[in-house]
Amino acid sequence: MSTADKKAIKAKSKNLPQRKTSAQPEKDYERHFAFLQQNPARFQIFRERVFDQGVHPENFVDYECAFAAQTIQPLYPRSILDIGSYRHFILGLLAHYPVTTLDVRDRGPLLANETVLTGDAKNLTLPDQSFDLVLSLCSLEHFGLGRYGDEIDFQADQKAIREMIRVLKTGGHLIFSTTITRAKPAIGFNAHRIYDYSMLRDFCAGLILKDERFYSHRLKGFCSLEEITTDRQGWDVYCGCWQKP
Ligand SMILES: C[S@@+](CC[C@H](N)C(=O)[O-])C[C@H]1O[C@@H](n2cnc3c(N)ncnc32)[C@H](O)[C@@H]1O
Repeated sequence: MSTADKKAIKAKSKNLPQRKTSAQPEKDYERHFAFLQQNPARFQIFRERVFDQGVHPENFVDYECAFAAQTIQPLYPRSILDIGSYRHFILGLLAHYPVTTLDVRDRGPLLANETVLTGDAKNLTLPDQSFDLVLSLCSLEHFGLGRYGDEIDFQADQKAIREMIRVLKTGGHLIFSTTITRAKPAIGFNAHRIYDYSMLRDFCAGLILKDERFYSHRLKGFCSLEEITTDRQGWDVYCGCWQKP
């Protein structure tokens, strides 16, 4: 997010009605606790001090999900394949669309319009040209490293991208997010790979770029490619939407 954007959000939030909060909940805790003990109504009362005040926390996951939601919104895909993305995001998506989900870790369908497949992303047992949208958030960088119980295969990420493109219909979209750095690409074995921009562009050779965004942990928001980390073992986030011609 640019400094101008941040200033605009700050200025906007100044005009919002301020929510009334209890003045000093930490300081008043004992008094409120004693009151509850004397007036428990139908509850049992025990101590569990937690204070999560202030601005609601956001992290890279929020930005990846926001990118995916924003890019899916105008597409109205009739068939969606998800590979490994955040379960909570997919459950939200299922409110609007049937989704076929594939992950190497087994899980049950939680809604009737979810078709659950358990398998390895590098070898999809699905026909060519079968989905309008293939989605994969925060997963590519893990494939083939064994972290999630899949077979060790250091080319699994390249194979999986080829498979995602194979099962996409002509005109369909591939939306994915993954790690990115401006330092030398790296494998933090066995947690994840960290790609550079040229590797990600190579993965998508032959596809048409529709939109891409970068998230910086340092800036806590979307940023330009030039603002991506150069820390040797650090990583930021790439989000891309590509169309199969
Ligand atoms: C960082 S997690 C993504 C978020 C996670 N699904 C959640 O709901 O929190 C990476 C996901 O990729 C899946 N995965 C890892 N290797 C895989 C493979 N080779 N094929 C398919 N899925 C794989 C993992 O099981 C995991 O769910």
